[in-house]
Amino acid sequence: MREYLGHPVFKIVSEVIEEEGTQAFVIGGYVRDLLLRRPSKDIDIVVSGNGIGTAQKVASRIRPSLQVSIFKNYGTAMFHYGTEEIEFVGARRESYQHNSRNPVVENGSFEDDQRRRDFTINALAISLNDATYGQLTDPFHGLDDLNDKIIRTPTDPNATFIDDPLRMLRAIRFAAQLGFRIEENTFRAIARNRERMCIISKERIADELHKIILSGKPSTGFLLLDKSGLLELVFPELSALKGVEARGKFAHKDNFLHSLKVLDNICPFTDKLWLRWAALVHDIGKPASKRFQPDSGWTFHGHEFIGAKMIPELFRSLKLPLNEPMKYVQKLVALHLRPIVLAEDVVTDSAVRRLLFEAGNDVDDLMMLCDADITSNNADKVYRYRQNFELVRRKLQEIEEKDAIRNFQPPVSGIEIMETFRLKPGREIGLIKNAIKDAILDGVIPNEYQAAREFMIRKAAELNLKPA
Ligand code: CTP
Repeated sequence: MREYLGHPVFKIVSEVIEEEGTQAFVIGGYVRDLLLRRPSKDIDIVVSGNGIGTAQKVASRIRPSLQVSIFKNYGTAMFHYGTEEIEFVGARRESYQHNSRNPVVENGSFEDDQRRRDFTINALAISLNDATYGQLTDPFHGLDDLNDKIIRTPTDPNATFIDDPLRMLRAIRFAAQLGFRIEENTFRAIARNRERMCIISKERIADELHKIILSGKPSTGFLLLDKSGLLELVFPELSALKGVEARGKFAHKDNFLHSLKVLDNICPFTDKLWLRWAALVHDIGKPASKRFQPDSGWTFHGHEFIGAKMIPELFRSLKLPLNEPMKYVQKLVALHLRPIVLAEDVVTDSAVRRLLFEAGNDVDDLMMLCDADITSNNADKVYRYRQNFELVRRKLQEIEEKDAIRNFQPPVSGIEIMETFRLKPGREIGLIKNAIKDAILDGVIPNEYQAAREFMIRKAAELNLKPA
């Protein structure tokens, strides 16, 4: 495996441990990703002695001024070298208490250190010792599992997951990211221990959800979350979309499977985390808006508004950022039906202007979401929708070029209205501003200063206001 040890830090570590008379291995995700030829930024090095001391010697040999961050409580030290983050730790054995995922740590052998790890594919180590430099140490057959694409714990999976329940989500996340299968015993242990998730912080759960969402085919991860029983615990709002209800000849689609399809559909077109989130939650309001009409079947009227209203609470409960990302997802959820309605109707200029005004710079993302939302099996229907969307896209472009609505700035400001009519701040200003905006969006006047000023004077006259 020498050919894999291209990073210059490895040779330096090798020299330092030779002088110290200690031993060291590169281990964990870095080795896994090297073998899979995936990019990886974090290099973990386990040493037989004191990880902090070795890290300091290695760092000073690279550059005396190189800053080393030391985490005494964890017995680890870290520095940056090139674009990589290099972390050192002494080989350790871990035991866990019931209510915490923070282990009690003792010094241990290298094999103890490999045994304490979550999966066989993450327990692979490559020697940095002079005599065995580049040799793979693989007591748990991680290489076979890498080749066979299997996620398996090195020891009893129950113990692995009881010790650190976050690993249940990691198993599913790796399955989604790498396209691997979770070995049966390992998967059964996830289902059995799912309630242990309650000791994991929301931030860590969200982190794993992000990674599933950013994987090539996120539905793999969400289906496994569902099958293991974890989905209900970590994301009940999504779990609530599951199932099909039928009455007489009327049945609705399974909104969970539909949402996953939309998410998968959008993946080839965007790596934007929050656009992918929007795809996942665009129908989150469906359970709350579901009604049955005896003559026409199931309806979900207003689900886009109910869904948009649910977003802040959803973001709070998962500890997701409450600023821009939340507003963005909320906007896309609220607007996700608009292009479809437009495409079904006659595409009027004013409807297109209003959509541009409300979506602003996110209009392209909205159109991408709507494209992904076409999951019908009826080829004619899909063809028709796509044709109409093309028309909507053309109209959006045409009107934007003509009227510049995306970043709408009122052509006449509130201050100008106040000064023209000698008004103090009050409701008339809002009324006039809104009337100008509506007139532009409805195509009554162009989006230009002179036209807007004349319109302002006419509108003010209706309110019995005259220029001073
Ligand atoms: N590890 C573990 N249990 C965890 C987290 C990590 O056993 N809950 C071990 C694994 O051996 C893992 C290594 O610590 O490979 C490094 O962890 P981390 O950097 O979090 O994960 P990676 O496996 O490198 O993968 P990623 O960076 O994609 O999270």
